[in-house]
Amino acid sequence: MRLDTDPYLARYAARVKGMSASEIRALFSVASRPEVVSFAGGMPATSALDMEAVEAVAAQVIRDAGATALQYGGGQGRPELRALLTEVMHHEGIPGHADDLVITVGGQQALELVARCFIDPGDIVLAEGPTYVGGIGALTANQAEVRHIPMDADGMQVEALAEALDQLAAEGRRAKYVYTIPNHQNPAGVSMSVPRRHRLAELAEQHDLIVVEDNPYGLLDFAGRTWPSIRELIPERVIYVGTVSKTFAPGVRTGWIAAPRPVRDKLILLREAADLCPSNLTQMIVETWLTTQPWREQIKRFTELYREKSELMLHALDTEMPDGVDWTVPKGAFYVWLTVPRGVDTSDLLAKAINQRVAYVPGRGFYADGSGGDQMRLCFSYPPQDRIHEGVGRLGELLHAELELVRAVFGDDAPQLRSRRDARRETRGGNLGG
Ligand SMILES: Cc1ncc(COP(=O)(O)O)c(C=O)c1O
Repeated sequence: MRLDTDPYLARYAARVKGMSASEIRALFSVASRPEVVSFAGGMPATSALDMEAVEAVAAQVIRDAGATALQYGGGQGRPELRALLTEVMHHEGIPGHADDLVITVGGQQALELVARCFIDPGDIVLAEGPTYVGGIGALTANQAEVRHIPMDADGMQVEALAEALDQLAAEGRRAKYVYTIPNHQNPAGVSMSVPRRHRLAELAEQHDLIVVEDNPYGLLDFAGRTWPSIRELIPERVIYVGTVSKTFAPGVRTGWIAAPRPVRDKLILLREAADLCPSNLTQMIVETWLTTQPWREQIKRFTELYREKSELMLHALDTEMPDGVDWTVPKGAFYVWLTVPRGVDTSDLLAKAINQRVAYVPGRGFYADGSGGDQMRLCFSYPPQDRIHEGVGRLGELLHAELELVRAVFGDDAPQLRSRRDARRETRGGNLGG
């Protein structure tokens, strides 16, 4: 029996009592050892930035406007930066005006502020299953009840969303909002098809819904394509979340929310209560980056690098994975979502994987309801190209051994194995649910 030794336990607020460190966090310390090939953290390849250019940008900010950069600023964020970030949105075809924007400490603070703005304990939020760990964290920290909508290779299954909305109506309840990551989703690595985006917009109108559209990866499409945003379809119903973390650098901790004006005003008040204002220093670094550097070229360079890494990973998976393992094929960004035969538990397997010097994130962290035990996220953006095959090879070896074990216990006709193999033959990239 584990004794709980936290002497403050009885005093915590209800929203804190159920919180515990995520598997991802516990992982970071081990997975960052050089001998481990880590497909765990969703980290951009910041080493691909032109560091001399970044140094010149930071120096210019201090030299030309040091006193302002080191001073407090306004709660909404600097108007100069807000105007520039609308240009980034327009580059992706997303409408926006500087007045609509609130600058945040990354997309993560944006998600937390939006949750704080709308969620009372027990309120329901509908979200893709699986979905972003930090998105779940922001919701559960505000005591939301997260209900998942299944996904497949075309993103959220919007007809399942329609059913969930009808089910809620039958219960006399309604969702506070729908949380979606339509482009190159974290963790599933798939994008919502265009017809589904239109159907989502239609359902939002029909059910009088708010949609929180989280879009860190839209500009990282391997074919340089842009997808229609939900914001452009139903602007008055969408709270849009952006970030420069994946197109410039997460270290500047700069994101933003574009929201209808009344919501924007509440969000500014909430953010002032949390941290007064975003950092002038990092806002001005981002401004100077966007005005003096070829940022569109940098995004292209990042995207080409990630496309190359994704091809290496997909090729390695094809050659190294045992039969019965399935995975998604990303069209952009960072992630491959892997489903293993049911006898294998990816949370249990992690310690062995790290022992074999390869790391991933077990699937359970990406669901609020504990499913995902037969899934894992592999992130290919960070490890160097020449280590990707090595890492996938180690994981393949481990899974081969694990499946041998499952067969030894259940026999070759283990029902879990057979059904998963058949499913793979019939619908490669079919339903991603756990
Ligand atoms: C889907 C999604 N939303 C939001 C974030 C938050 O990123 P940041 O706070 O660095 O902008 C991430 C980071 O990985 C993400 O994957």
